Amino acid sequence: MKILVTGGTGYIGSHVVTELLNQSHEVVIIDSLVNSKVSVLDSIENLTGKKPIFYHENLINFGTIEKIFKDHTFDLVIHFAGLKSVSESVEKPLLYYQQNLAGTINLLRCMQEFKVKKIIFSSSATVYGSGNEGECIETMPTGQGITNPYGKTKYMIEEILKDVCTSDPEFSAVALRYFNPVGNHSSGLLGEEPNGIPNNLMPYIMKVASGELEELSIYGNDYNTPDGTCRRDFIHVVDLANGHLAAFEVLKTPGFKTYNLGTGAPTSVLEMVNTFEKISGKPLPHKFVERRPGDLAEIWANSSKAARELNWHANLTIEDAMKDTLTFLKKHS
Ligand code: UD1
Repeated sequence: MKILVTGGTGYIGSHVVTELLNQSHEVVIIDSLVNSKVSVLDSIENLTGKKPIFYHENLINFGTIEKIFKDHTFDLVIHFAGLKSVSESVEKPLLYYQQNLAGTINLLRCMQEFKVKKIIFSSSATVYGSGNEGECIETMPTGQGITNPYGKTKYMIEEILKDVCTSDPEFSAVALRYFNPVGNHSSGLLGEEPNGIPNNLMPYIMKVASGELEELSIYGNDYNTPDGTCRRDFIHVVDLANGHLAAFEVLKTPGFKTYNLGTGAPTSVLEMVNTFEKISGKPLPHKFVERRPGDLAEIWANSSKAARELNWHANLTIEDAMKDTLTFLKKHS
């Protein structure tokens, strides 16, 4: 297939592009490089022997996106492009609504114009909102109590896709709800490299491990969880990437579908730190601080729908993720 991947040089996008090229698909990437580097394309070529076609463009520029659709006939779109910092989205809501919503609408307008009828969207467990703690299943209500504009854009885009599917009986959209992606390709050539001080746990652990930041602050150790720290469903990004390819089959049936992509089991923040220390053989400086506003005590995926309908499940472990993270750090030090 010829597949358009928006945000294809980003953390998750680059892993998906690598799997797509390995499966002999043709890939065209549109990426604004706002949160990634063009050198990722060389790493992808290194790993696959192939270089995807690349456009350094932003989805909010309708005319340029339309031109790309004119130049290619796509079978499918995988849509990752979007801003993803929870804290930045609280400070700059309009930027997030413009970039994530207007960008997606432009993309969907082009798909409509050029009769591209299949899309996989990079959604998030955040759509379950703050009312749904613990195990989350696709049949639960979404959109209630989402605490930040980033999360709301994920929910709103799911709703937009639902409406597009209703309006066009041939259109097929799959929203993959990611839990907490961690790790990287085992080569260490691809990975997450956020600019500045990271918000998320793994990128922060990496900066402490590399000596760039002094110590990790663990937000809260008085939660009602086994060790008092929050629990999340940390999923290896390579497993997550394979979930996208597994979704191709269900795209053959029109309509809107959602799938959780998680391991189905929670791991605590402290267990993550302990596992990193065990695998690296070195202590990771950390301290306990106040809870972070908006954090849920625990959330993990019920991933039985993906197992049943996509024949997909996570195979890699937290240990694998930590090992691969260390390989990445070695390659990038
Ligand atoms: C957040 C977003 C989620 C988004 C994901 C990836 C919400 C509620 N969550 O998930 O939508 O998809 O990021 O971008 O919108 N932690 C520390 N110290 C740190 C960093 C994190 O203790 O320096 C803890 C947090 O308190 C949390 C856990 O680690 O308990 C995971 O945090 P994080 O990586 O930021 O992901 P989430 O908040 O689960």
